[in-house]
Amino acid sequence: MKDCTAPEATWVFGYGSLIYKVDFPFLQREVASIDGWQRRFWQGSHDHRGTPDSPGRVVTLTPARGALCQGVAYRVENSVFAHLDHREKNGYQRAPVSITLAASGATVEGVVYYAAPGNPAFLGEAPLPDMARHIAASAGPSGSNRDYLNQLARALQGLGARDEHVFELNRLVDAIE
Ligand code: SIN
Repeated sequence: MKDCTAPEATWVFGYGSLIYKVDFPFLQREVASIDGWQRRFWQGSHDHRGTPDSPGRVVTLTPARGALCQGVAYRVENSVFAHLDHREKNGYQRAPVSITLAASGATVEGVVYYAAPGNPAFLGEAPLPDMARHIAASAGPSGSNRDYLNQLARALQGLGARDEHVFELNRLVDAIE
């Protein structure tokens, strides 16, 4: 029989700021990954790391056969989505995803905030040196775009995750004064 006292909860996979900026309550946190997706700095940010006139660059996902995107999965009460949907409102939509939990190897069904190509803030691909200059020059209400990238790179290193796109971009931005 269903336990009517248990909160309705959902797994949410974080691959960007949701890894390191945890401003929401959660029931469980697990290092995790999703298959078939790559993290890319292809989404514009008008509201956190840039402005509508001068958007920053933040991460979204792009499908890639054989790829693995490492991050963190949180099991959250469904009421938490009011906050998360607001935080991720600039072009992201909740999309269903299968998540592999690193510790147990179990697969759970959950959601991920995905900014699809064609959303109004989408910037798309650019050469890494151009993206680095763009990130080094951008800032918004949540802080500098450089900090977003630095914190993400540090958090991924802390998880033992591999992501040459993020690490190379971070090296390029660090080299810009
Ligand atoms: C995420 O962290 O999972 C979504 C993108 C972001 O907020 O940086």
